[in-house]
Formats: sequence, C-alpha cells, structure tokens
Amino acid sequence: MPDDNLKSIAKKSAKPLRVAVLVSGSGSNLQVLINAMQAGALPIEIVGVISNREDAYAITRANDAAIPVAILSHVASGKRMGIKNFETHASAQLSAWQPDLIVLAGFMRVLSGSFIDNAPAPMINLHPALLPAYKGLDTHQRAIQAGERHHGCSIHVVTAELDAGAVLTQALLEINQKDTADSLQARVQQGEHQLLPWTILLIAHGIIDLNNPHNDAESSYLPALPLKLWLND
Ligand code: GAR
Repeated sequence: MPDDNLKSIAKKSAKPLRVAVLVSGSGSNLQVLINAMQAGALPIEIVGVISNREDAYAITRANDAAIPVAILSHVASGKRMGIKNFETHASAQLSAWQPDLIVLAGFMRVLSGSFIDNAPAPMINLHPALLPAYKGLDTHQRAIQAGERHHGCSIHVVTAELDAGAVLTQALLEINQKDTADSLQARVQQGEHQLLPWTILLIAHGIIDLNNPHNDAESSYLPALPLKLWLND
C-alpha cells in the first residue's frame, strides 16, 4: 500500500489537477489559486469558474486570467434562478469541464444532496470557522459573542448536510480582546489564503486522499486529519 501511494503521488504530481471553482463574491481565494497556478507553485489547471451572482468580482478575476466563466444567476426571462435550475446548468457545465476537484470558495448557496452525489468530481468547501463549531453564517460574530479563545477556518468535504462533511484541514488563530467581527474576518481570510492552496497541494500530491478523507488506512503513511496550521499575528 505505501508503495502504491508513492506511485500515485508521483503520477498525480506529473499532471496538473483540473480544478473547477464555485464562487459568489469577491473571489480573493480564487485569486490566490490563480496566482499560485500562474506562478507554477500549485500543480493545478483552473478549468472553469461558476458564479451564481452576476455582480461577483470573482468573475473579473477569472476573466483577467482568461479562465472560462459560467454566470448562472438568472433565467432567460430575467428572473433569479432557483436552486434546481442552477444545479441543472452547473451539472452540465461541470461535466463539460471534467474537473478532478470542485472547490467551493465563498460559494453562498446550499447545494442539494443529489447534485453533490452526482457531481463529476469530489467537492470541497472553505468555511470561516473551526468546524464542527459554528456551521452556517455570521461565524466571526458568534465566536466573539461566545467568548471563544480560538477561531479560524476549515476545509471540508461537501456532503448533503450543511458544513458537516469530513474536515480535511484547519487554520487556527487566537481571538484578541480588541477583535471585532470585521477584524476577525480579515485575519481569518488571511488564513484562508494560506489554507486553500496548501490543502489543494496536499490533495494534488495524494497526501490527502478524498476517497479516504480520514486518512485512516492502517498500512498508510498518511497523517490523520484534520491537519492544522497555526497562524501567527
Ligand atoms: C470566505 O471568507 C469564505 O470563508 C466564506 O466566504 C468568503 C469568500 O471570500 N465562505 C462562506 O461563508 C461559506 N459558507 P472570497 O470571495 O474573497 O474568496
């Protein structure tokens, strides 16, 4: 098994991982991936970006990098797309791009179990809290209000249950006395910008195996998950 692992690491690192990214907003995490891809620091090819909002700045970032973009926000009549409609179009688009990995980077719609199960590649999500704590929204404010000492972000496998799939990696920081939800968000986002490329690198090299997201095979050298990254101020 370890020998097979090493072979698969060598094979995987020879060919870039085809990555599709789903976004809803600014796309600062998408930008980090674009920069790392363009610098040759990450063995990925971003094969396409799907936005569910036509005003997402992430679209400009993808266009500037000549990455194909699908904006799935409205139907022909101008009405906002329902989730079913979005998923039908997104499924077709993803199948056409044939990604090895689908990354939700600031994607703010809840996807159905059947979309996730039938997706053409494993799907990971970046969440701004230390899961399993603080699933859902307003994570920074809730962590401060609860008097938490630590906070951060997580990358997890997407499953039908919201923010509940296996946690692969986390970046942690200390909450300061003077932190507000805004300052904490800014600090957590800096952590995300390290955590996302780091996690994708580990996936591309087979250190994180999405078919065995607990890395619990007895005969494997792989570390137990989640892997944790401590952030300094
Ligand atoms: C990120 O902070 C991410 O953690 C959060 O949206 C932000 C997107 O930033 N995602 C969620 O809240 C998902 N539930 P970006 O568009 O600048 O990458």
